[in-house]
Amino acid sequence: MNKLAGSQTDIAIDAFTTRFKQAPKYLVRAPGRVNLIGEHTDYNQGFVFPCAIDREMVIVASPRDDHRVMVHSVEYHEDDEFDLKEIGKIPAPERQWANYLRSVLSTLQKRGYRLSGFNAVLAGNVPQGAGLSSSAAYEVAVATMCNGIDQLNISSKDIALIAQQAENEFIGVQCGIMDQFISALGEADSALMIDCRSLDYRAVPLRLEELACSIVIVNSGVQRGLVDSEYNARRNQCAEGVVALSRLTGRAMESLRDIELAEFEQHAAALDATVAKRCRHVVTENKRVTDAVACLEASNLDDFGLLMNASHASLRDDFAVSCPEIDTLVELSQKYEGVLGARITGGGFGGCTVAIMYDAVVESFIDTVVPEYESLCHKQASVYICRAMSGATLLAL
Ligand code: GLA
Repeated sequence: MNKLAGSQTDIAIDAFTTRFKQAPKYLVRAPGRVNLIGEHTDYNQGFVFPCAIDREMVIVASPRDDHRVMVHSVEYHEDDEFDLKEIGKIPAPERQWANYLRSVLSTLQKRGYRLSGFNAVLAGNVPQGAGLSSSAAYEVAVATMCNGIDQLNISSKDIALIAQQAENEFIGVQCGIMDQFISALGEADSALMIDCRSLDYRAVPLRLEELACSIVIVNSGVQRGLVDSEYNARRNQCAEGVVALSRLTGRAMESLRDIELAEFEQHAAALDATVAKRCRHVVTENKRVTDAVACLEASNLDDFGLLMNASHASLRDDFAVSCPEIDTLVELSQKYEGVLGARITGGGFGGCTVAIMYDAVVESFIDTVVPEYESLCHKQASVYICRAMSGATLLAL
């Protein structure tokens, strides 16, 4: 247990013991993530390059002899209780934590897995609505817990797919696979280059210490708004682009992965102008991901940083998922001496930026850029220095 001991774990175990008058039998943790580059490419069968971070969702649980589920959320100071045979409707939008739990359980049952009842306590420190995938961490933690309690033998990739299905079907966000995948399969000190078409992946060591660099995440304090409807709208525009490009090229395309930039540009003018911009982002972003990974492997962080900057411009101008506060933060970051690159990370419309910078400037960056941003945008920012962690873990206590 030492490896996993930490405050969220201690809090969850204490709450469990007080509530259920016995020690829990299982401990699960599933991390949030930061995406270094490759945004809005996952649901277009493209490439992404995220790493898991040391912010996590923790569940401690014990099986029960019946079909009841009794859970307590430490973060929300709320309980949920139901029978597995009657999960029913997900409770209400404002009880999202319970919705995530129920939707994963429903998905598992729909796929034919037989679940036993359990008592559980949930705790976590992934900031919510910040673009660091607190919901994916939640979903992956629940699926991992059931996998352990009921010995379901589900692979980590399938855990990710089940968690994604729960989000798509029950929560209604048509998200891609990136967040759940990295939360389930992340590797310490590495980012994963994921091919979202084949689901093949490769761990690429970050070797930041060797390069005297850090990955710094800044939470803009802007809670992501509009996220579900705008996210789904972007997804539909990309799908529309695929249909139109198939017609224009005379080639049945499955996704925007099937076209390179040069060919895309030959047909772009014939597309609806907005759809063309959305597609251009995806096509160029895929190339930036493969280029960025090659840069990292060659220890060329200067060019890696430039690709991050270009990714931000594309997300701001072509994909239109940034917001004024994030643009300000990114601009301040990019021009700070010693910062190699900075961009918005995650779904967009607020949330966090991610920057790569020399260790030597991290402190002064925090002391300078954060207050500058706060006074310009009247928001409170917070900073996380990123440590790349391993994906979800299950421990029998
Ligand atoms: C959200 C989704 C992901 C991905 C990103 C954008 O985080 O959950 O699947 O699409 O947005 O890259």
